[in-house]
Amino acid sequence: RKKVTIDTIRKLYKDNTPITVMTAYDYPSGMFCEKSNMDMTLVGDSLAMVALGYPSTNPITLDEMIHHSKAVARGSKAPFLVGDMPFGTYESNINDAVNNSIKFMKEGNVEAVKLEGGVEMFDTVSKITSVGVPVLGHIGLTPQRAAALGGFKAQGRTAIKLLEDAKALEEAGCFAIVLECVPETVATFITQQIGIPTIGIGAGNQCSGQVLVQLDILGVYDKLSPKFSKVYANVGNDITNALKTFGQEVRDRSFPKSGDHTFKMQKGEDEEFLK
Ligand code: KIV
Ligand code: NA
Repeated sequence: RKKVTIDTIRKLYKDNTPITVMTAYDYPSGMFCEKSNMDMTLVGDSLAMVALGYPSTNPITLDEMIHHSKAVARGSKAPFLVGDMPFGTYESNINDAVNNSIKFMKEGNVEAVKLEGGVEMFDTVSKITSVGVPVLGHIGLTPQRAAALGGFKAQGRTAIKLLEDAKALEEAGCFAIVLECVPETVATFITQQIGIPTIGIGAGNQCSGQVLVQLDILGVYDKLSPKFSKVYANVGNDITNALKTFGQEVRDRSFPKSGDHTFKMQKGEDEEFLK
């Protein structure tokens, strides 16, 4: 596969070709993004919930994200690789935000970072992009702020506020913006009003691209099933059934099957050994 760069993303946007983005959190999930021709692979901090079992995205650290993104990068080669800056690594001061984003790139092998927030992140995003780290914005439902927003729910913020946020992020140099849980009409309007791609999740099909969480669409994660997600496969059931069958076959000694899954000594040795 040909390497997807920021120029490829710009070209897709210019040609009005929807941009495909999928999350990944380790080597095999990264490899699936590679094999399925994703344009972008996102090491989202949703992995804190879906892959690590935390109740929110907030407990994960930058070093943990780096540990995961390195594994994803080994499987996902061609897609443009983006990593989520975790909660607490970019909000309090700009220098930390810049240093942490550079660390993420250098140690985690990501090609861009994503961070949550709109107008209030203008200076931070401007600085990060100015030193050469591409930034993917994220507005609407921003899960890292779930506590302040009153939970994981569609946002009652006004369309005007969201448009201001999107415009600020564009001006600050973001190469694209994730719109999460934004009413369809608002997402469509924002997409028309700005000059960079919007990547929707629960934001209707008029965005410039779409992203979903891999373990959600595979039917593996069993805690939340967001309205905006779609279950494309029931891998969770397949895994449970496979493990059940293994357990059963071990208990009734039908696995391993002699000859199929076993090794033989060299000719004559068996008899010799058993003497
Ligand atoms: O963490 C994540 O997976 C995300 C995407 C859903 C946009 O932020
Ligand atoms: Na995220």
